[in-house]
Amino acid sequence: MTHAPSSLDLLLSLDAPRRPAPDEAARLLVYVQRLVDHPRPNLTAARSVEDAVSVLVVPSLAVAEAWPPTRPAPRLVVDIGSGNGFPGLAAAALWPDARVHLVERRQRKAAALAEHVVAAGFADRVTVHAADARELLTEGHGLVAAADLVLLRAVGPMGDTTRLAAPFVAPGGRVVHWKGPGMGPDELAEGRRVAAGLGLVEGPTQSGDGERTLRVFERPRVERAPRRS
Ligand SMILES: C[S@@+](CC[C@H](N)C(=O)[O-])C[C@H]1O[C@@H](n2cnc3c(N)ncnc32)[C@H](O)[C@@H]1O
Repeated sequence: MTHAPSSLDLLLSLDAPRRPAPDEAARLLVYVQRLVDHPRPNLTAARSVEDAVSVLVVPSLAVAEAWPPTRPAPRLVVDIGSGNGFPGLAAAALWPDARVHLVERRQRKAAALAEHVVAAGFADRVTVHAADARELLTEGHGLVAAADLVLLRAVGPMGDTTRLAAPFVAPGGRVVHWKGPGMGPDELAEGRRVAAGLGLVEGPTQSGDGERTLRVFERPRVERAPRRS
């Protein structure tokens, strides 16, 4: 009789660059076990660790494909509308030296999120903000034009979420949207229009998890004018 692979085996069998290091994969499993064990407030519909791994963790690890492998690892990541902590915690697991900011405007959700982050051992590098993302642009959090990656999954139409994300993106940084087959051509066109108006250029779309694709926009680095001698 063959046994289904454990959730840990599943994560460790992912292809690079999506595969987290073993201790990081273990931390993610502690985290999703907490989500399953604490249904109030309801942060996920997943009712088992296996479900949470397939619905939340694996699709979020696809973020690895949205960062060019030739660049140094991202140092600052903002996950807007984090809700259950994903995709931001996948970025924390893939890039353990990054500072990750999870932004969730619902106070009860954010409080639960913060507890789970501590319990899973992510607190030294993951900060939970119980705030609307827009508030973080005015309160001196050091996040304006600072993020290498701004992540958005299931937060809203692409035009609106691009507007929300753009002020956080550093030169050379990227906005990554997880988008399912439900996104129509109008939403995509509006997302592109907003991105272009905010100085972002479209990057390569990534295949995501088979269902969702990752749509990428990048803030170009500012070219320095050549010096006159
Ligand atoms: C459907 S949940 C998505 C959770 C998670 N990202 C996922 O993919 O499963 C959307 C979350 O975004 C939060 N949200 C929406 N707009 C926001 C904003 N402007 N700032 C912070 N949080 C926001 C909502 O409160 C909600 O918890």
